[in-house]
Amino acid sequence: MRNLTVMPTLPQAHGFKKGDVFLLFGELFSRGYANGLVDQAKAEGMTILGVTVGRRDKDNQLRPLNPEELAAAEANLGGRILNYPHWAGFDMDPTPSGITVSESIANVKPTDWQDFKLDWSQVEEAKVHSYKRFRATVDQMVGELETLVPHGANLFFAHTMAGGIPKAKIFLVLLNRAVKGMGARYAPSKELWESDLGRLSAKNYDAVTADTFLELIEATQGLRQKVEGWGGICSYSAYGYHGTPILIKDRYLWQTYTPYLPGWSKMRLEDHALAAWKQGIKAVVYNCPEIRTNSSDLFNGVELSLYPLIRALRHEGGGPWAEAQAKACQDLMIEGMGLEAMLDEVDAYHLNPIITPFHSDFQDWPKHNSQAMADLMLATSDKVMEMNRDKKNLITDYLSGLVVESSGRIMLNEGYAPRGPVLWLGHDLVAKDLLAHHS
Ligand SMILES: NC(=O)c1ccc[n+]([C@@H]2O[C@H](COP(=O)([O-])OP(=O)(O)OC[C@H]3O[C@@H](n4cnc5c(N)ncnc54)[C@H](O)[C@@H]3O)[C@@H](O)[C@H]2O)c1
Repeated sequence: MRNLTVMPTLPQAHGFKKGDVFLLFGELFSRGYANGLVDQAKAEGMTILGVTVGRRDKDNQLRPLNPEELAAAEANLGGRILNYPHWAGFDMDPTPSGITVSESIANVKPTDWQDFKLDWSQVEEAKVHSYKRFRATVDQMVGELETLVPHGANLFFAHTMAGGIPKAKIFLVLLNRAVKGMGARYAPSKELWESDLGRLSAKNYDAVTADTFLELIEATQGLRQKVEGWGGICSYSAYGYHGTPILIKDRYLWQTYTPYLPGWSKMRLEDHALAAWKQGIKAVVYNCPEIRTNSSDLFNGVELSLYPLIRALRHEGGGPWAEAQAKACQDLMIEGMGLEAMLDEVDAYHLNPIITPFHSDFQDWPKHNSQAMADLMLATSDKVMEMNRDKKNLITDYLSGLVVESSGRIMLNEGYAPRGPVLWLGHDLVAKDLLAHHS
């Protein structure tokens, strides 16, 4: 049984300062969650470091960034990149048969995927190879990092890695049906997840989304002891997802997106934080609200939970800044469309009896979808999207920016003296933080 440990109050201001070191474990994309943490760490004058997942040559060899790529990545991060290729997961690693797992599924057809059987011993070998490769890379990176943490400094690790769908065309087709398919195009997510291809994805999700955090914690044991030895703080954060409490008709209710296929791996990530915490390590998974990023764009409908943030801002005290946010969202809508009517529609969706059995059962998370649930979620998502004036400048992009900013502030502040290993950031906390900062 899991506990919903929602952060009840904003953290105290932290003690990270100029000269302390911040390391982003994952790459920074323009819309990604990590921007909030990086911006906050920069604002405090911390030294910004990052890693790369590397790039692949034509022959599939994983390599560090070349000088141009490195310069671009460092400019984007605003800090130094420790240039070792941290690509995680085993789908592109060699198997004893000489081909990768991805290559072994390259010819699976949309008509025969359900009968397709993997050679699990090959998969296991690729997995062992990739875990060793990844750990060796992290060890190299930590070797360099040790030379960059000055005596007396604090150290903050920000894990952002998530992913794991194997690189093969068949997954584009299958995910389009299981996650984005409506009507005749719908295929149950459970059928995909219980097939060999689904089981393969789940294992790769574990490797990328969860076990990279464990590897980071283990590989930095010596450095952590050194930092703590001089009285410094060594703190680890990871982004989790496990649903979010949002305001639905004047009450904060926990809800989730369905079918969140990486959910089992996100719980494994939480387990890694729980185990580390028991050993006295400041390792925290922050379960963050649904926003739109490169990664979450796969999950159409996930953004429906984001709109009620507008009402949470009013609920937590409102005022001119909150009204300015509501107006900014209204201005993004097609002429004649009302923001309040849209928010009422989203509330009605969250309370619809077709949706609630899938979206409000915390103990039985994550769930697979049904045809009726998927049809309603995707149709509502489309309907609300159609209310936007410009598909390239969406209300959800605007609100995502607010959540990214706020989550960064909350996580860095909390990281100095965290209150627990698994913490949820509800819309109430995000709204409180934004109002406290901007009002
Ligand atoms: N977007 C959301 O709604 C949401 C909600 C809660 C939590 N999160 C979590 O926030 C974190 C950042 O995600 P985001 O949504 O900002 O998207 P993003 O696309 O900006 O970030 C994804 C990260 O995963 C890394 N990554 C992807 N594949 C990898 C691989 N094979 N090996 C190593 N690293 C890999 C990328 O380098 C990047 O740092 C993730 O852990 C995600 O699960 C996202």
